[in-house]
Amino acid sequence: TLSKTDQLAAKNQEALLGGGQARIDAQHKKGKLTARERLDLLLDEGSFEEIGKFVMHRSKDFGLDKEYYLGDGVVTGYGTVHGRLVYVFSQDFTVFGGSLSETHAEKIVKIMDLAMKNGAPVIGLNDSGGARIQEGVVSLGGYADIFYKNTLASGVVPQLSAVMGPCAGGAVYSPAITDFILMVENTSYMFVTGPNVVKTVTHENVTSEELGGASTHSTKSGVTHFTAANEVVCIQQLKQLLSYMPQNCEETAPAVPYTLGQDESRPVLDTLIPDNANQPYDMREVIEGLIDAGSFMEVHQNFAENIVVGFARLAGRSIGIVGNQPAVLAGVLDINASTKAARFVRFCDSFNIPLLVLEDVPGFLPGTDQEWRGIITNGAKLLYAFCEATVPRITVITRKAYGGAYDVMNSKHIGADLNYAWPTAEIAVMGAKGAAEIIFKREIAQAADPEAKLQEKVDDYQQKFATPYRAAHRGFVDEVILPSQTRQKLIRAFKMLENKVDTLPRKKHGNIPL
Ligand code: COA
Repeated sequence: TLSKTDQLAAKNQEALLGGGQARIDAQHKKGKLTARERLDLLLDEGSFEEIGKFVMHRSKDFGLDKEYYLGDGVVTGYGTVHGRLVYVFSQDFTVFGGSLSETHAEKIVKIMDLAMKNGAPVIGLNDSGGARIQEGVVSLGGYADIFYKNTLASGVVPQLSAVMGPCAGGAVYSPAITDFILMVENTSYMFVTGPNVVKTVTHENVTSEELGGASTHSTKSGVTHFTAANEVVCIQQLKQLLSYMPQNCEETAPAVPYTLGQDESRPVLDTLIPDNANQPYDMREVIEGLIDAGSFMEVHQNFAENIVVGFARLAGRSIGIVGNQPAVLAGVLDINASTKAARFVRFCDSFNIPLLVLEDVPGFLPGTDQEWRGIITNGAKLLYAFCEATVPRITVITRKAYGGAYDVMNSKHIGADLNYAWPTAEIAVMGAKGAAEIIFKREIAQAADPEAKLQEKVDDYQQKFATPYRAAHRGFVDEVILPSQTRQKLIRAFKMLENKVDTLPRKKHGNIPL
């Protein structure tokens, strides 16, 4: 018999091997890392402390009474990323395909409870065949326990989900409730029902990759916020993402050291906006011109590209940016752009990350497609999200601010703290031509030369409203500033707003139009 010390060593060794070497080799052959290798990449060296290493399932049916693995298909615990505490769970596909049993779920719930009590993010690395089929409803109950905790933890601590293998059926709803999803190209997929069920029900022939791979979810559905070419890149993204966030809703995000330059002006911005208001430019260039060099991490890069959202740093401090993108669909707001931005605004507000809005918006996208799919309800999400946000909020109108979209895009009227406009700003109900055609319809029709009359009216409207000055006279715009001076202004303004306290009326919770 083994000594007590050797017995412990043997058990530890057994736990490290998960479902055994053959299955570890199979995992590697698929281009995937093991649960523990992923944690090694994610966490600071030597910082991982495992919890529940010897947990085993309690099932007796379908031969499970003869098949046990220490840890039961998930590695859980805590460690640090860039020196900051995080709680982690990493599903082990080599043990029953990473499938979720009652005990597997209990381990995840345990670290989520610790995370909520101690105020630190939860990172889930998902790689699982779904509910442990041999366990039946017990396993489903385990999922529900996790969903429930995900929901209670939402807005308390950041929750990040990397999907690094299968994630199907009920399993998708835990990542879906968390704040961010990251997927790995070609080795991960998410769907509520797989290709076989799809074929039976809708007679569609579709591969797993087409149905729910990383590229599908980053472009078509918007389910995933980030995609990575491989697992190593995915884990780097996780770490970078964490760096913009605080540990919990009571804290602010860590700042990186920044020494203010003598001159924070950025002359390149003065020539960025084209003279012709209908000519596109890339809002990302505005962003790059304003923020600390190389600090932008774009969220949902390939989804609803008519709006750009992401994290950045301004003089070392973490901010969230929402910018209309004139280079795509003229920066119009549609259903996807509205929900994408609304969710981002709510994340930032939950975790005390100040918001910068860069506005160049011609309005909402017209048409039956949008109306029938509910642009009213969905556009209202973005409006609601801004109205409700109590973090420091600053808007810079770079060019168009038309119609209802002007109100929605973090206007002063809905609680923005400061609203700047560039001299190129046009703040009006609509573009000058459309406006003139409507309000001077009869006069134009009756004119001897309707073309000339229209032009005259367009010029008139343009002069009156296609500027920031009407809004500035009213105080709806606090200052008209040069693009080159904007970075400097923003650094000072966010510093001024650093200790902002604002509260919403007492309520159970609001009813955002979902
Ligand atoms: N419950 C129990 N065991 C499971 C499982 C589950 N949900 N999913 C996979 N496994 C086991 C397999 O029996 C296999 O065991 P083995 O190593 O002893 O042979 C192992 O995990 C690996 O599965 P395998 O099918 O060989 O891997 P794959 O990469 O070819 O396929 C899946 C992966 C996820 C596509 C496939 O396993 C699958 O379809 N699983 C069922 C998914 C499902 O319907 N889940 C329930 C709905 S929530």
